[in-house]
Amino acid sequence: MKGVILAGGSGSRLYPLTRITNKHLLPVYDKPMIFYPIETLVRAGVNDIMVVTGGNNAGDFLRLLGNGRDFGLKHINYAYQDGAGGIAEALSLTSDFVGNDSCVLVLGDNILEDDISPFLRNFAAQPSGARILLKEIPQREHLVHLGVPTIENGRVIRIDEKPRNPGSPYAVTGAYMYDANVFDIVNTLSPSARGELEITDVNNEYIRRGSMEYDVLPGFWGDAGESIDHYMTVINYVAAHWPRQRHPEAEE
Ligand code: G1P
Repeated sequence: MKGVILAGGSGSRLYPLTRITNKHLLPVYDKPMIFYPIETLVRAGVNDIMVVTGGNNAGDFLRLLGNGRDFGLKHINYAYQDGAGGIAEALSLTSDFVGNDSCVLVLGDNILEDDISPFLRNFAAQPSGARILLKEIPQREHLVHLGVPTIENGRVIRIDEKPRNPGSPYAVTGAYMYDANVFDIVNTLSPSARGELEITDVNNEYIRRGSMEYDVLPGFWGDAGESIDHYMTVINYVAAHWPRQRHPEAEE
């Protein structure tokens, strides 16, 4: 299974913090934001990773991550996204890298507390299709900024992107597992009202085909790019609950 981390986009919800740098390079407590999703993949045994980024700061990712030594990796693959065409467009740039393999995609601003290994095993046990990870979010004002599933008889029957009236108390987190059909599905998409190829449209196609499964995350999950308030919520949670790891090159 291949791992894909998306670290493009304009990050305009965090302006002016992101006017001169990429959102995924901003600090989350003691590490750059993108370290967290990479650690999520490596902890689950996914070592073949591609980072998709874009814009003026793409070179900074090479300098920051290099060949992945901080994560115990031997190399990291990179792709460049022109413009901000959406999550599904960014994913399509990884099609040669993923090939006929399956992939786990994690958005570069998503901070997950859980070890996702059990969910990857659940996905591996599926004959084909896709798997999403949901997180229960009691606050409605939070859900309206996210993708929200409607669930009937234990199946996701629809996902609404940024719904006015959320169909459930669950958010679709930015961690997705796909079989190799995902690239054919992306090729059929048209841009949404915000001018992007939406990952929610990809997921709705898997639902239509009857091959979308899900798990619910027990631990903390946050989208650090959702808003400045949520960025701070994520930092405060990580500072209070994550063990601090001193970097080997950090001065005393
Ligand atoms: C994206 C997805 C959304 C999902 C969220 C999770 O939203 O479109 O469905 O709930 O990531 O982080 P975006 O951050 O692009 O607005």
